[in-house]
Amino acid sequence: MKICSIVGARPQFVKAAAFSAEVAENGGKLGVEEISIHTGQHYDRAMSDIFFEELSIPPPRYELGIGSGTHGAQTGRMLESLETVLEKEKPGAVLVYGDTNSTAAGALAAAKLHIPVAHVEAGMRSFNRNMPEEINRIVADHLSTLNLCSSETAVENLWREGLGNTVFRTGDIMFDCVLKFADLAEKRRSPGAAETAERGEFVLMTCHRAENTDDPGRLSAIFAAATEIALETRIVFPAHPRTAKALEELGWSPPPGLEMIPPLGYLDTLFLEKRAKAILTDSGGIQKEAFFLKTPCVTMRDETEWVETVEIGANILAGADTTAITAALAEFAKNPPDFSNLPALYGDGNSASKILLAVARLEQPRNS
Ligand code: UD1
Repeated sequence: MKICSIVGARPQFVKAAAFSAEVAENGGKLGVEEISIHTGQHYDRAMSDIFFEELSIPPPRYELGIGSGTHGAQTGRMLESLETVLEKEKPGAVLVYGDTNSTAAGALAAAKLHIPVAHVEAGMRSFNRNMPEEINRIVADHLSTLNLCSSETAVENLWREGLGNTVFRTGDIMFDCVLKFADLAEKRRSPGAAETAERGEFVLMTCHRAENTDDPGRLSAIFAAATEIALETRIVFPAHPRTAKALEELGWSPPPGLEMIPPLGYLDTLFLEKRAKAILTDSGGIQKEAFFLKTPCVTMRDETEWVETVEIGANILAGADTTAITAALAEFAKNPPDFSNLPALYGDGNSASKILLAVARLEQPRNS
């Protein structure tokens, strides 16, 4: 069976690393061959190539070179190019990951060609349709034959939407990745990351969500909090190009104590996430990695899909509210979560093998 897996953005390269390794190891026994397609949504070296190199991901068979654009233009270009490739390859299934425009375009292109779609990290909901990711999730889940869920919450969300018969709980593939690459991150971290960690206590910060970067009020409030925190604790802030541009437009420049650096690869990210005193983020993946690596997390969003991390006290939702962000960090400093007593929320770290088995069972005769 031929599976076309579609990636395009940073977090998808990480998830694909675990799945591609699983196919390389066990795909042959199941008669599964993977053909990887990179839409080109992320294209800078620091946003794309570095992940393939560090994680030894085989180069994609197809690179569509779509690049940036408005949501409609970017997704439309992907749809057209993906359709051409899928018509040529005629896979038995298409695998999409997460919630980016590449995910939605991949699911739509395949579903229109009557190719079964399997969605990894399905069923996540913020219930905020102003987020582009929420739209992408809904589209991908409703077009998928197989919804592969990270959490019980995701399973319940899909049952509520009438998709119970598509659901399969696999656990979270990013947990596989953390287990698989944590040791490598210790060995292969860059000299810059090692030096950053050696200089003492720091908070790691990331901010790239459109809901924050495209709203000057929210962005100002977040960086007012960062400026206040940096007076006491050093902040290390790898900046997504979208955020760097938005901060420049805002006329903001980093205060002393806030180290704004270029985007990091996956191994340096894991290395610094593990050593940070706490993490400030609006990323979904980083909320989970913080939990896996036992680092307290403050989420600068109004809601999260990873609700369990908040319920057990590993993550505080602080919105884009200066006072709430600084208070959340102070709360963690006073009462750090006892990670040794927290439950495992997202499976056993063997999601990739469950995903492969589930997708292999999708094979069905097709007419074309
Ligand atoms: C996308 C995903 C988001 C995910 C994030 C991971 C969507 C709607 N959003 O957001 O869910 O969390 O990836 O990083 O799919 N840019 C560059 N170089 C690049 C890529 C982007 O400079 O290699 C800049 C461009 O100015 C571009 C902007 O970043 O317009 C936004 O890129 P885009 O891919 O549209 O969305 P992300 O913000 O990266």
